[in-house]
Amino acid sequence: MSEIFSLSGKTVLVTGASSGFGYHFAGVLAEAGARVVLGARRVDKIQARVDELAKAGHEVLGIPLDVRDPDSAQQFLASAVERFGSADVLINNAGVEAGAKTYTMIDDEDWDYVFDTNLKAAWRLSKYYTALAEQSGSRGCIVNIASITAFRTIKGQFPYAVSKAALVKATEIMALEGARYGVRVNALAPGYILTDVSRVLLESDRSDTFVKGIPMRRYGQFEDLNGPLLLLASDASQYMTGSVVVVDGGHICAEL
Ligand SMILES: NC(=O)c1ccc[n+]([C@@H]2O[C@H](COP(=O)([O-])OP(=O)(O)OC[C@H]3O[C@@H](n4cnc5c(N)ncnc54)[C@H](OP(=O)(O)O)[C@@H]3O)[C@@H](O)[C@H]2O)c1
Repeated sequence: MSEIFSLSGKTVLVTGASSGFGYHFAGVLAEAGARVVLGARRVDKIQARVDELAKAGHEVLGIPLDVRDPDSAQQFLASAVERFGSADVLINNAGVEAGAKTYTMIDDEDWDYVFDTNLKAAWRLSKYYTALAEQSGSRGCIVNIASITAFRTIKGQFPYAVSKAALVKATEIMALEGARYGVRVNALAPGYILTDVSRVLLESDRSDTFVKGIPMRRYGQFEDLNGPLLLLASDASQYMTGSVVVVDGGHICAEL
């Protein structure tokens, strides 16, 4: 039964693999048998992860990637196909936030920075990826890393939460339109997971109140995402498209 979650023989591309989720996902995907292509701007960190995974016997490739740059995005996909012969799964994970700012505090630069990375880049990579799937006649699978802030949020997460809500809508529309090319598009929406990015909030004096709002009474750990990630990236989800898998300890259904 566990074979349906296997990624053996598949090439999986992960954006934003130099730290946090992406860094962790690269290992999980490789352990599931995938050839993994890691992309991000910090090439030293990508190279370190590639070396680590290669040493453990995995087939991996690191590529400098700025998802906001169309040429870089094209090159990312082309390099994966050139090296491994296919691009079976695309994980749009790269993401940024503008800091703890309300809508009255952000400026045009914050807006463009967050939307260009979290939304426009995910659309652009998905567009190029779908063209590739159409050309090669192969089926495709896209996993967008959204967030529960798409559904419920707290003050000071503008425009991050708006970009994630839009990414959920983009997932649904791309699922609808991508089906004719054999491309499935789903989203993973994690709750609060302890990473370098969320540490400031999760280890602040607001932390206790925050945890009490999570029905399971704890933050998520990277490992909590392993199963849901493999579900969406593998053939185990072959009849799923346009779905959003929420992984948050029940946070979005908590009492107000
Ligand atoms: N942590 C959480 O609690 C949480 C919860 C829900 C959703 N998420 C989402 O999960 C994803 C990963 O976040 P994280 O928590 O792991 O944060 P992180 O450690 O800061 O990782 C973000 C990654 O995105 C990459 N990135 C940013 N801009 C990029 C660009 N222009 N081109 C290529 N790569 C870029 C960064 O690499 P470089 O800087 O090297 O380019 C980095 O590898 C994001 O989409 C985030 O919104 C996180």
